[in-house]
Amino acid sequence: METVKIGIIGAGRIGKLHAENLVRIPQVEIRAISDIFPDQIQSWAESFGIPKVIKDYQDILNDPEIDAVFICSPTHTHVSVITEAAKAGKHIFCEKPISFDLEQTLQALQVVQECGVKFQTGFNRRFDHNFKQVREIVEAGKIGEPYVIKITSRDPETPPSEYIKVSGGMFIDMSIHDFDIARFLSGSDVEEVYAQGAVLVDPVFAEYGDVDTAIISLKFKNGALGIIDNSRKAVYGYDQRVEVFGSKGCVNIKNDLPSTAEVSTVDGVIADKPKYFFLERYREAYVEETKAFIDSVLYGKDVPVDGNDGLQAELIAHAAKKSLVEGRPVKIAQVTPKEINLG
Ligand SMILES: NC(=O)c1ccc[n+]([C@@H]2O[C@H](COP(=O)([O-])OP(=O)(O)OC[C@H]3O[C@@H](n4cnc5c(N)ncnc54)[C@H](O)[C@@H]3O)[C@@H](O)[C@H]2O)c1
Repeated sequence: METVKIGIIGAGRIGKLHAENLVRIPQVEIRAISDIFPDQIQSWAESFGIPKVIKDYQDILNDPEIDAVFICSPTHTHVSVITEAAKAGKHIFCEKPISFDLEQTLQALQVVQECGVKFQTGFNRRFDHNFKQVREIVEAGKIGEPYVIKITSRDPETPPSEYIKVSGGMFIDMSIHDFDIARFLSGSDVEEVYAQGAVLVDPVFAEYGDVDTAIISLKFKNGALGIIDNSRKAVYGYDQRVEVFGSKGCVNIKNDLPSTAEVSTVDGVIADKPKYFFLERYREAYVEETKAFIDSVLYGKDVPVDGNDGLQAELIAHAAKKSLVEGRPVKIAQVTPKEINLG
């Protein structure tokens, strides 16, 4: 295979971003993009040279020329699209989370396994220059045995209420990235979760049974401890910092800034705020995750973030939700469906 022929399903915020990155990869040909509102994306698609805009994603699955699909439609559609795409023999890149329901996630991943297609979960942060560097330092043993993983992850603004309503809640929608990064940096699965949450930013979150602020404690299987602090609104921008503290030292990363210029005057020192949000902060990471998936399809390599990574992060999210509701620590085993067997 010299070129990977792609179909994209869903052309909202993330579908357009992936399309715009994919058109820049020489070994990729985007054959078609589907959205339930095709008229709204026609001129955008033309401007990126995407030849076909269609309403029904089945047309992508029925195109024998298409090797792989990017599933970028809303989360509630993922399971049926994954299942049908796998049965049609398409390799799959699927946005996070795989689904809101653990049984359904498992069923979809089992079909993927049976069909023998590749499946990458859209955890873009693993491809970020800073997070990658921290992982390499931890993996090389430079800070010794990890003791504590600290993650600060705060959005600059709340999503619209229509989004909050269908997001599945903060843990499965937002914190899920942090759960994946916690596993990535510690090199370990999680054993137990204790979550506390509050509605401090906007009462609309309470209307949907959600929280906008959370502190989540983790116990990892390798013995390390973790702490994540999440907020749906940090007035100074997208706050994305981590620290890993271990037996031989500590590694941390600061926020990425648009520039490092600092203005010092008699009144103090003024520096840039963090890059605004995920599209700015993780611009390069999205490019890298896309290239990694294409490489896996082209050269038969393993995907760097697989279905089990998606599943493990969802297990932590469900344990966090249960912990919040029940006001006690919850073991991952207590939310794990019995029939987990993904090899
Ligand atoms: N990895 C990340 O950083 C990241 C960031 C944002 C969103 N996401 C995930 O990506 C997915 C989409 O999120 P978004 O923010 O782009 O949403 P969005 O609402 O902006 O876009 C979704 C698009 O899918 C279309 N759509 C709906 N049903 C469809 C169907 N059956 N077939 C084809 N198109 C359909 C909608 O019309 C819309 O254009 C969600 O699962 C979300 O969790 C991931």
